Amino acid sequence: MNLPSSVSIYDTTLRDGEQTPGVALTVDEKIEIARQLDKLGVDIIEAGFPISSKGERSSVKKIARAGLGSTICGLSRVLTPDIDASLDCDVGMVHTFVSTSDIQIAHTIKKSKEEIIELAVDAVSYIKDHGVKCLFSAMDATRTDMDYLLKIFKAVEDAGADIINIPDTVGVVTPPMMRAITEEVYNTVKIPIDVHCHNDFGLAVANSLAAVEAGGREVQCTINGLGERAGNADLESVVMSLEAIYGVKTNITTKYLYETSKMVERFTGIKVPPNFPIVGENAFSHESGIHTHGVLERSDTFEPGIMTPEMVGHRRRIVSGKHAGTHGVEAMLNDVGLAPKKEQVREITERVKDLGDKGKEVTEADLEAIAEAIMGELKREEKIVELNEFTVFTGNKVTPRSTIKLRFKDQVLTGEDTGVGPVDASLNAVRSVIKDIEDIKLTEYNLEAITGGSNALAEVRVKLEDASGHVVSGRAAREDIVMASVEAMISGINRIFLLREKQRKQ
Ligand code: KIV
Ligand code: ZN
Repeated sequence: MNLPSSVSIYDTTLRDGEQTPGVALTVDEKIEIARQLDKLGVDIIEAGFPISSKGERSSVKKIARAGLGSTICGLSRVLTPDIDASLDCDVGMVHTFVSTSDIQIAHTIKKSKEEIIELAVDAVSYIKDHGVKCLFSAMDATRTDMDYLLKIFKAVEDAGADIINIPDTVGVVTPPMMRAITEEVYNTVKIPIDVHCHNDFGLAVANSLAAVEAGGREVQCTINGLGERAGNADLESVVMSLEAIYGVKTNITTKYLYETSKMVERFTGIKVPPNFPIVGENAFSHESGIHTHGVLERSDTFEPGIMTPEMVGHRRRIVSGKHAGTHGVEAMLNDVGLAPKKEQVREITERVKDLGDKGKEVTEADLEAIAEAIMGELKREEKIVELNEFTVFTGNKVTPRSTIKLRFKDQVLTGEDTGVGPVDASLNAVRSVIKDIEDIKLTEYNLEAITGGSNALAEVRVKLEDASGHVVSGRAAREDIVMASVEAMISGINRIFLLREKQRKQ
């Protein structure tokens, strides 16, 4: 393998990704995604196709002027008006492309192969004359006659292109073919090679990696694999495969992968399937008794190990169902502050399996209800800490401040605190009230919009740790994110106190 020490990541979520049927992003959403991609560390953001509409020009321009660290690129055909539209947006790079396969030449551009080379060379020279970086793509390269492909790549290299791209436009190549094509190109041109693979046969990631094995130095991909038809190679799998399997570095801060995926899911409305690699809800979930037992002993027994949920900003979940085992059920119940005895765990597990056998999904709430029915004495409604009153004050010229009144057993306690935002201020205020009773640390905070819109139902999940190292989770769902956060925190605090009481009684 001709492996490099590092590979550049070229993100085309805002261009090819937006070509996903049914997706249309607003200018503001595009800017927010671009900021997130920059935070993630992508080397190049293909911000759009400026000639295609006024709105597209406006968003590319705003992204190019947002002061991001990533290079901002605009897509253009090999035509002067297209290139001018990109240049007008102040991009740092223009990606110019033309069809090179016989089928596309005959039925779309209808020019001779020599004319196409001339157009490509003129476009590259024009871009370079304007002092910006130039990426040239031979569209449908994987169905292009090899001699012609090498000829056009050589011609654009001579014209000053900085990098060339081998697109598998209709996703028909296989990894050995991609390796062979990339190798031939690598042996012919000196400038770096980029690849752009579509996923029509589910091979986009494998083909991108094959190209890297044969000399490719940049990979084009999209968040959640969005893109035309079956989409493009997904950035999450490309990056984690390169980093964790191949040991090839990228500039991606992988712990932001999950939150980036969630943002793109929310803005595009295209749901990530639960079994999607890296960022799908089930990517680090374990149901079967054999697996959960193993994972609770040592996570790499049934996970790759070279990739953990923490690395990608995700979380591990033990879920219950017909394959559940006692270890997993006990761990899940401990996590919510319940500490059943051994025989109770066995009975709860049997009930969970019965439900699973009847084809029922066993949610965490179902599991808690079963546990409470069997454990009897522990009432989940029992609340040691309850919210009485709460206010939060925020704005663009003030430090967010929150005041809170809680009932703890039969006392009413009040507190207040500030924070970087209303959620932070409110959670700090809760902690300020509780801190004299128990030093509780917030170790994890997750926010997810369950529905769409600015009044979306948001689910907040928190993980809390007490001074003795007990870790519990708290959860709440509300349309008001701040309220959901406070309630999730209070539910976690109750679980810590309930767990303590239970242990004292045992
Ligand atoms: O799939 C493709 O060929 C493209 C080009 C513009 C690179 O998206
Ligand atoms: Zn494409």
